[in-house]
Amino acid sequence: MKRIVTFILINLKSYAEGTGQRAHQIATMAQSVSEESGVEIGLAAGYIDLHPLSRHFEIPIYAQHVDGVPPGAFTGHVTASAVRQAGAVGSLLNHSERRLTLAALEAGLKALTEEKLSSVICTNNEATSAAAAALHPTYVAVEPPELIGSGVSVSKANPEIITRSVAAVREVNPEGKVLTGAGIQSGECVKIAVDLGTDGVLLASSVVKAKDPGAVLRDLVSLL
Ligand code: G3P
Repeated sequence: MKRIVTFILINLKSYAEGTGQRAHQIATMAQSVSEESGVEIGLAAGYIDLHPLSRHFEIPIYAQHVDGVPPGAFTGHVTASAVRQAGAVGSLLNHSERRLTLAALEAGLKALTEEKLSSVICTNNEATSAAAAALHPTYVAVEPPELIGSGVSVSKANPEIITRSVAAVREVNPEGKVLTGAGIQSGECVKIAVDLGTDGVLLASSVVKAKDPGAVLRDLVSLL
């Protein structure tokens, strides 16, 4: 089944080019491309940039991780309540660069749900996608780790993982939303992913490290 709303989530990671003033520039371009195209574009920003970005922009701002603890006597933790108060609408969980135990993942998801925040659980294959779907996050985002940051797109190099993950998620939860990522860099990559049944894509380096992020963003939405 082809879904109508496509979501493009840009993970700014901890790249120097994804923080501070440069994060602000990317957000400016993302908001303008989103308004022009009607495609939903969000940013998953570092904690320090959450409030500056959410205060200035209408596009959805996500955190990259939350700890599954309530507000309280926890030093050096970031709670779902804190990211909500900073203006974030949700968070990634279990990114390939921030893997969690199953217990920590469940606790992080519970914390997000209690704060009425969106959740994007990252996975690495169809089996973990099915397991993540059983937790009922807002999105499952499947990314083959070997293609992350490689410049080689999952849509072209491993479309089967997308097809199999979409099927695995929808078998567990027919309404489950699926993103895919790793090496996504063009409108063609996005179109293939959506045609294979996803609700959008999760990507980082092609936008964050681009000389002209606006041009890449316009290309990403060009075939939708
Ligand atoms: O979170 C998105 C990410 O892991 C994919 O990275 O640089 O391959 O788009 P990239």
